[in-house]
Amino acid sequence: MQNGAPSTIDFLDTCRRRVDAELDRRIKSGSVSAQLQDAMRYSVLGGGKRIRPALAIAAAGALGQSPDSALVPACAVELIHAYSLVHDDLPAMDNDELRRGRPTAHIAFDEATAILAGDALQALAFGWLAEAPGVEISARLAMIQELAHASGHSGMVGGQAIDLESVGKSLTLAQLETMHRHKTGALIEASVRIGALTAPDVSETAMDALTRYAKALGLAFQVQDDLLDIEGDTETIGKPQGSDVARAKPTYPALLGPKGAREHLSSLLNSALESLRDFGPEADPLRSMADYVVARTH
Ligand code: IPE
Ligand code: IPE
Ligand code: MG
Ligand code: MG
Ligand code: MG
Repeated sequence: MQNGAPSTIDFLDTCRRRVDAELDRRIKSGSVSAQLQDAMRYSVLGGGKRIRPALAIAAAGALGQSPDSALVPACAVELIHAYSLVHDDLPAMDNDELRRGRPTAHIAFDEATAILAGDALQALAFGWLAEAPGVEISARLAMIQELAHASGHSGMVGGQAIDLESVGKSLTLAQLETMHRHKTGALIEASVRIGALTAPDVSETAMDALTRYAKALGLAFQVQDDLLDIEGDTETIGKPQGSDVARAKPTYPALLGPKGAREHLSSLLNSALESLRDFGPEADPLRSMADYVVARTH
């Protein structure tokens, strides 16, 4: 399936609309601080491709589950992602002032509020998984374990720590891959696995195949993000172009050159698609999401 084919765009657009509406509805109230509430809404709403929720919904669909069954778990993953972006942009981390085409949360509010909004979104994500409607209790527990593993020191936060420790250093390809697999890959893998967990009878074989798909895609996602940092333009990517170069971040294009990074990207896409070989057309949204992730321009 070609990137940009109507089905890819339709699938992602439909997911985005549903996810945006659910996030908007669910983050309306509940905070004892109006400023914190505003910062949480600002950080989650008003932009974002919603790739992770779309992957969760697509994985559920590949196992015959309805998009509705995966909606709240999908939104929970997006909360972790949104929190990770708020903290990633902070002066102590990447020190960026533009995100999704708007001032970053610490610029729009202040640093302390941005930190607290991230903290609150993280806690909220686990609350939403615990109460996910239509999902069996045992599956909710498995989702919580999945997200905890993918978000914390063994996943995204661990990867972010490696990222910051690596500034100005040249990593080997294996070290770079480890960093990317954690800081970005872990949450993408969790998105797919959490979507799959909505299917009460998911087999180990199917889960293994989906996990292989997600691992390849998660790495591909960050390789393309690194390429966009050097090849995109600020207006299109909605975040400052050249941020990695300015901060001497180790990236795939820095290590392999843009051509080498693109070749690596295309081999990761092939691996992702190959992992889905035993699935029928019900996995087409996952296939088209893979095409989209490697060809995206923002
Ligand atoms: C950006 O993720 C951060 C990375 C993990 C590379 P996305 O490109 O999915 O960001 P949004 O949610 O669409 O803004
Ligand atoms: C961010 O990687 C990964 C996480 C937020 C966990 P980047 O620092 O490359 O993401 P962008 O480019 O700022 O979106
Ligand atoms: Mg970063
Ligand atoms: Mg960053
Ligand atoms: Mg980046």
